[in-house]
Amino acid sequence: MNIETKRSSLETVYRRGRRSSFSYALTSQGAEPYGTMTYDEAVRRSARIWDQPTFFFAVCLKGDDQLIGNLYFAPEGPPRLKTYTLGFVFHPAYQKKGYATEACLAILSHGFLELGLHRIVASCDQDNVRSWQLLERLNMRREGSMMKNVYFKYDDKGQPRWVNSYHYAILEESFKGFKIS
Ligand SMILES: CC(C)(COP(=O)(O)OP(=O)(O)OC[C@H]1O[C@@H](n2cnc3c(N)ncnc32)[C@H](O)[C@@H]1OP(=O)(O)O)[C@@H](O)C(=O)NCCC(=O)NCCS
Repeated sequence: MNIETKRSSLETVYRRGRRSSFSYALTSQGAEPYGTMTYDEAVRRSARIWDQPTFFFAVCLKGDDQLIGNLYFAPEGPPRLKTYTLGFVFHPAYQKKGYATEACLAILSHGFLELGLHRIVASCDQDNVRSWQLLERLNMRREGSMMKNVYFKYDDKGQPRWVNSYHYAILEESFKGFKIS
């Protein structure tokens, strides 16, 4: 599937497609909270992660096909709840330029207008300020604050580094007519 924005296109990542490993490696370079990894590590990791139906979109610049990030957009809970969850990672060189906002707006629009969703949710580390600022720019509402409910990394002893997270959501009625000023 392809979704067009003003400056980029969002393309579904297929599990054996050329973008799966490449996307993972590129967007993981210095992209906290996930840390860095070599291309070979990314190939191994993506083979495991993407060996399942994919809910990832590669975000590419229009024209030169340059990959700048990826979005995760997947059902949350049973289909009757019409709820999807949103995630995003952008390559550091393409952050703070509005690309993430543009891509996320396009996927929200796709979710509400094409898929007929009722609600879209997202969670992030409370210390990941840019992440929750992005969610608020998208008119998503902070609905909850969770204590040590998720981890992305391990400590020196191999134990999970639990972090606190925020939960955000937007309803179809709050998205319709919404424009970023
Ligand atoms: C989270 C993440 C996607 C947020 O990206 P971002 O760069 O803040 O978001 P955008 O690309 O939409 O950029 C918005 C900024 O660009 C500015 N900007 C510059 N040019 C712009 C343009 N042409 N159009 C719109 N905004 C523009 C905006 O003013 C805004 O700046 P501000 O935050 O100072 O107000 C990014 O930090 C990231 O990939 N982090 C690593 C992975 C990660 O943490 N993922 C989330 C896990 S929960």
